[in-house]
Amino acid sequence: MQRKALILIALAIFTVCSRTSQKVTFMIGGAPAELDYWEALASKFSDSTGIDIAILRQPTDTDQRRQGLVVPLRAGEKDPDAFLMDIVWIGQFAASGWLEPLDSYVDNEGFDLSPFFERVIDLADRYDGHLIALPVYVDAGLLYYRSDLLAEYGYNEAPVTWNELAKIAMEVQAKQRKINPQFWGFVWQGAQYEGLICNFLEYAVSNGGGIVARGESLIINSPANIEALTFMRDLLAKYRISPPNTYTEMKEEQVRSFFESGNALFERNWPYAWGLHQSPDSKVRGKVGISLLPKFEGGHHAATLGGWHIAISRNSDAKRQAWEFLKYVVSRRVQTDFAVDLGWNPARRDVYDSPKVRERAPHLVKLREVFESATARPTLPYYSLLSKMLQQKVNAALSGMMEPEKALDEAQAEAREIAARYKR
Ligand code: GLC
Repeated sequence: MQRKALILIALAIFTVCSRTSQKVTFMIGGAPAELDYWEALASKFSDSTGIDIAILRQPTDTDQRRQGLVVPLRAGEKDPDAFLMDIVWIGQFAASGWLEPLDSYVDNEGFDLSPFFERVIDLADRYDGHLIALPVYVDAGLLYYRSDLLAEYGYNEAPVTWNELAKIAMEVQAKQRKINPQFWGFVWQGAQYEGLICNFLEYAVSNGGGIVARGESLIINSPANIEALTFMRDLLAKYRISPPNTYTEMKEEQVRSFFESGNALFERNWPYAWGLHQSPDSKVRGKVGISLLPKFEGGHHAATLGGWHIAISRNSDAKRQAWEFLKYVVSRRVQTDFAVDLGWNPARRDVYDSPKVRERAPHLVKLREVFESATARPTLPYYSLLSKMLQQKVNAALSGMMEPEKALDEAQAEAREIAARYKR
């Protein structure tokens, strides 16, 4: 009897050990310093749980990250077990059946979802009545500025309107060029990729436009949008405050390093840039302010809602272990570290109350409203197709190949075709 009990205990221990020693492959992209941070986080997790995490590194660009995941997921590979997804592709991944529903994990453990932003969970992490992901951080477009230069030229605040931004940028650029010929007034993401749509939406919405659903169709070529796109083109062609490679090369990381090398007055970027701007090798450390993106006269401030969410692959053979890692990543402690160490905007409300965050990342607390009211991109199953088409049109207008009105008229017609094709 005693022997039998001992064997059972040994068996139980063996099962637990063999289960927890299983490796979780985790696919994650980002700036090199952020990836190093993830590596350190994964080893901390492994030390305390015995679950190994193998990090599969991806680039920063969301389109490349999506492609890198679609290939193994579509092929039904076991790896990666877990990954981060951009808020805009979750719907497509869920509809393809690639995501493990998390309801039973949450229910069995009484996992508390109440600290998370409900709007974000409802918008992004539920599909067909199931919870399929958890938010890791919330993004919204922000304006970064050189506080030292603004003060030097007699401005004590960031510009409120886009016209003010253009005016200040022209003045400071002209004067700074005498000392630094590489200097530009304003850097932002104009390359042909998803980030361009995020930028375009901010100008459009802050002018009373946007990609608006009307009945069955989307309105893209409204006068407000045409005006907004014309202004974007003017930043390059008329005011000449943004570098000519804006529409060929500028994505998040190019923009961040440009600003960080001390060669720009204003920058549009996501919250992650804050932490990196303050790093020891940054030339702008301690000289950066952060504010709402400007608006058009009579419009309102707008920021595109972005952010990254963690999920488990349906084909994973280490789901239990992956779930342990998910819980760790979204825990209050780790989310607090993300906010303090990386400047990421937490997806949990309770982190904002932490004294550590209030003291070390006061800008996030101050800008909390921006994150809560940020503009979501349309949640359509064919969003990627729509976005790809619009990226081409908006980019063609920036390069001067097409007039803004023509670009958006064409986008309008093609959006209609895409929607009709998708429904068929
Ligand atoms: C950021 C945002 C993401 C967006 C991407 C565009 O990573 O979090 O939502 O799609 O930038 O480049």
